[in-house]
Amino acid sequence: VTNRTFTMLKPDAVEKGHIGAILDKISASGFKVVALKLTHMTTADAKAFYAIHSERPFYGELVEYMTRGPIVAAVLEKDNAVEDFRTLIGATNPADAAEGTIRKLYAASIGENAVHGSDSDENAAIESAFHFAGREMF
Ligand code: CMP
Repeated sequence: VTNRTFTMLKPDAVEKGHIGAILDKISASGFKVVALKLTHMTTADAKAFYAIHSERPFYGELVEYMTRGPIVAAVLEKDNAVEDFRTLIGATNPADAAEGTIRKLYAASIGENAVHGSDSDENAAIESAFHFAGREMF
């Protein structure tokens, strides 16, 4: 078990001007930011990042969405980071997300759900390395 997770503030959250509010909530919830940048995924990037979903009916829509504007990519540190961050962001569908979670507050729909959180320590490491060079993680 590592103490890091990977997150993206997705294009809808950036478009709506929620970067500051979401990063504040993440910090206030005990996560330390150890890598951070604004970046714009190419179609090839998004297809590769979400390759696990390539057979899903929403894959094309997901790639369009994730490439339509810049995202904020970040690596976060906290004890039990993966699980605690998924609790903080709430259910994939904001309609099912608990009160006070980031998706309840900022997400519009199951597709445009404002924020990503890694689902395992292994994927946190893979996803962090996808977006950040070693010298960009502290
Ligand atoms: P996330 O769980 O972070 O990673 C997969 C993403 O696919 C998910 O967030 C949503 O953005 C998107 N997604 C999941 N389910 C659906 C769905 N039923 N329709 C459209 N998009 C979806």
